[in-house]
Amino acid sequence: MRYFLGIETSCDETAVGIFDAVEQKIIANTLFSQIDLHKEFGGVMPEVASRSHVEKIRPIFENALAKANLKISDIDHIGVTTKPGLFGSLLVGVCFAKGISFANNIALLGIDHNYGHILSCFLKEGGKIRDDLKFPFLCLSASGGHTSIFLVKSPYEYELISNTTDDAAGEAFDKVAKLLKLSYPGGPIVEKRAKLATIADVYSFPRGKDKNSLHFSFSGLKTAVLYKLVSLGVYNKNFEFNQDALSDEIVNNVCSSFQYCVSDIFASKLELAFQKYPDVTSFALVGGVSCNKFLVGKLEELSIKHQKNFFYPPREFCTDNGAMISLGCYFDWKSGKKAALDEIDIAR
Ligand code: KG4
Ligand code: ZN
Repeated sequence: MRYFLGIETSCDETAVGIFDAVEQKIIANTLFSQIDLHKEFGGVMPEVASRSHVEKIRPIFENALAKANLKISDIDHIGVTTKPGLFGSLLVGVCFAKGISFANNIALLGIDHNYGHILSCFLKEGGKIRDDLKFPFLCLSASGGHTSIFLVKSPYEYELISNTTDDAAGEAFDKVAKLLKLSYPGGPIVEKRAKLATIADVYSFPRGKDKNSLHFSFSGLKTAVLYKLVSLGVYNKNFEFNQDALSDEIVNNVCSSFQYCVSDIFASKLELAFQKYPDVTSFALVGGVSCNKFLVGKLEELSIKHQKNFFYPPREFCTDNGAMISLGCYFDWKSGKKAALDEIDIAR
């Protein structure tokens, strides 16, 4: 067993990755990002996403094989994301995976997208597996669909210890960007505009009510941003937008204060987790939000304060990708998982 191919279509990226178990390295990671298709809606439009996956899955799969200089007959195992995600999007990946699995007689496994994100931090620049991983470690997974902390006990075993009770962190970035009439996805543009702020945390948004809970909540923060904009006249009492009141300075300061607040929320929840699991010596940040250099910098400071080792994936493995699913396939296979084709279904 050498080549493990992973297929990811849970949201708005059509992605295929290949892991070489002999070299312990990702040898292909190709994707088509649908960002431009969803921009005009300010978020992912599920029907548009599924149709685009149908169009792109085959060329992206063929690109991955070409990149790795392999034929389908060289592939030893296939993994496909089966949960969580948009139903129609997952369906495209699962049907395609079942088709190539059946036609070429290659075993198939269903992979959990969150497991894939956790495994993304096993990779270093260039796609090789890190050789400095120490278990157990805490993994904060933050993206558009999820914000959770996992206790990762081994490459095969992880426990969910914290989750969001409402919005995900990335979703909050996207919603704040939408309030400020910035483009989708919100994360990169909010990070960019925050750099231009005159005062880093001028609005000091609320850090959440339940300071003793490990669980996250971002909907209150999003509402606080909206009410701040109302107080600044950017929205009226009926929440109608007033472009004239939205200066560049307000946009920059809201972005910066919001991002600052998210960094404090991340740090405080991780500090609670450090207290609960004092023997843990390292922690990681994964998911689309881990692209954010400000947040990474704040967690670096936290790691120094608590003398913990902090790491995060290379940028290409932060947002949704096929490489992390190929790795999930490899570790699930190593742990002895097997599945018949008809057992692989989309979890709802
Ligand atoms: O992991 P991902 O590609 O997809 C999901 O599984 O959801 O994450 C996408 C999310 C989006 O909400 C996007 O705004 C956020 O990651 N994101 C960022 C940054 N880049 C992407 N959030 C904050 N700062 C960024 N630089
Ligand atoms: Zn994701």
